[in-house]
Amino acid sequence: MCTPEELRTLFLFEKLDDDQLRQLCRAGRIEVVEPGPVFREGAQATCFYVLVEGSVVLTKLSGGHEVEMVRTSHRGAYAGAWTAYMGDRVPQIYNSSMTVPERSTFFVLDAADFARFVAEWFPMAIHLLEGLFFGNQNAREILDQRERLLALGSLSAGLTHELNNPAAAAVRATASLRDRVAGMRHKLGMIASGAYEPATLQSLIRIQEEAVDLVAKAPSLSPLEESDREDALGTWLEDHGIAGGWNIAPNLVQAGLDVAWLERVAATVAPPILAGAVAWLNYTVETELLMNEIADSTTRITALVGAAKQYSQMDRAPFQVSDVHELLDSTLVMLSRKIGSGIDVVKDYDRDLPRVPAHAAELNQVWTNLIDNAVGAMDGRGTLTVRTYRDGDCLAVAIGDTGQGIPEEIRGRIFEPFVTTKPVGEGTGLGLDISWRIVNKHRGDIRVESQPGHTEFVVRIPLASPEGDHDD
Ligand SMILES: Nc1ncnc2c1ncn2[C@@H]1O[C@H](COP(=O)(O)OP(=O)(O)O)[C@@H](O)[C@H]1O
Ligand SMILES: [Mg+2]
Repeated sequence: MCTPEELRTLFLFEKLDDDQLRQLCRAGRIEVVEPGPVFREGAQATCFYVLVEGSVVLTKLSGGHEVEMVRTSHRGAYAGAWTAYMGDRVPQIYNSSMTVPERSTFFVLDAADFARFVAEWFPMAIHLLEGLFFGNQNAREILDQRERLLALGSLSAGLTHELNNPAAAAVRATASLRDRVAGMRHKLGMIASGAYEPATLQSLIRIQEEAVDLVAKAPSLSPLEESDREDALGTWLEDHGIAGGWNIAPNLVQAGLDVAWLERVAATVAPPILAGAVAWLNYTVETELLMNEIADSTTRITALVGAAKQYSQMDRAPFQVSDVHELLDSTLVMLSRKIGSGIDVVKDYDRDLPRVPAHAAELNQVWTNLIDNAVGAMDGRGTLTVRTYRDGDCLAVAIGDTGQGIPEEIRGRIFEPFVTTKPVGEGTGLGLDISWRIVNKHRGDIRVESQPGHTEFVVRIPLASPEGDHDD
């Protein structure tokens, strides 16, 4: 039985008058609950619970585990549909799960009654609470936007630079190629005028085809081997009276040709036309090398554009089943300039991991921030490790670095907004806060272990998402 006297002993109701307490009693009810679950996180919030006797435990699902938030036997402790007074402007769902470890007694109000009482009795408080709630939410959104723009700005600067290099290389190579092709047209004129015997011409064409094959298979040489070979070829060309031999030698070396090959050319043509023949073959080699360069550059551009598309998930649904390795790879490509050449990137992927349901572009934001932080901590030199593995029902992504470690004094607070050790303009202190919220939205968690020389952030995402998880 609900009595006004009993309700008055609960701190939540102590300031209400007799009439209000009577109304509460009439609308609500006293419920005795046996040990076990009372309501589940994420379910429609229909009731407001106030503990009269016994104890409650509130938990939240994180990384596939129930994490205990509160355990109390404090009379008057309340839980459930306490945001009902905001109506349909916020999702009316339980934001944690409640269980009772022992037989417990509650005063229970339906959400609609609770909302009505609060609205009637505390009209001004509602405005203040709403202001606080939505004000906070707005500030969050504006700041998130800013952090995202900062990240996007630095990514697009990096990407522009990355695209610029191969694009400029392709343009340069095309101009050189035009030059060489003009040279070859000129040579063709010479050949047509009968400068070469038909038999010689046949052999030269055979040697030319061989050269093209050799270019395709050219070994990569150490700088020392390269300069040795250049010396040998340059000397040979000089000895055979070929003008400009020292300019030709580096091309021939790059194409994988050597003195033995030149000897075969010399054996094929008469000495007076050797210089012309070598120059002609050099054109062949050069055009092959230039075309390779153009193919490499344009392939690189295509790969970068592909990575950018994958990274931004441009033409994909926001929530879908994703291969985390594709996400990690595209993020690494996007950040390659930032990572720089002084940092070794070690990938240790468990390719057997299944794909996971996820907001892929948002997870990319998480990797971006963790990698950005890791790189920032290493000062241009060290090892970045990106590891994936299975951890129970979760997929784990570990981002490790060999940097200075998280400063002692902020270790416990790094996931809080605005905690940063970076100079103004460089860090916002929002990266880990946003990352944490994104991972939380996936019902996962982030942990960190850090000491000087070794820091590792581990993100865990449940392999199967609970139903109804795909909206915000
Ligand atoms: N891998 C890491 N190594 C050392 N310190 C780190 C690392 N990751 C994060 N931190 C620390 O945590 C702070 C907060 O990180 P974050 O929330 O991403 O904000 P921001 O990068 O803008 O400073 C950083 O300023 C840095 O001091
Ligand atoms: Mg950061």
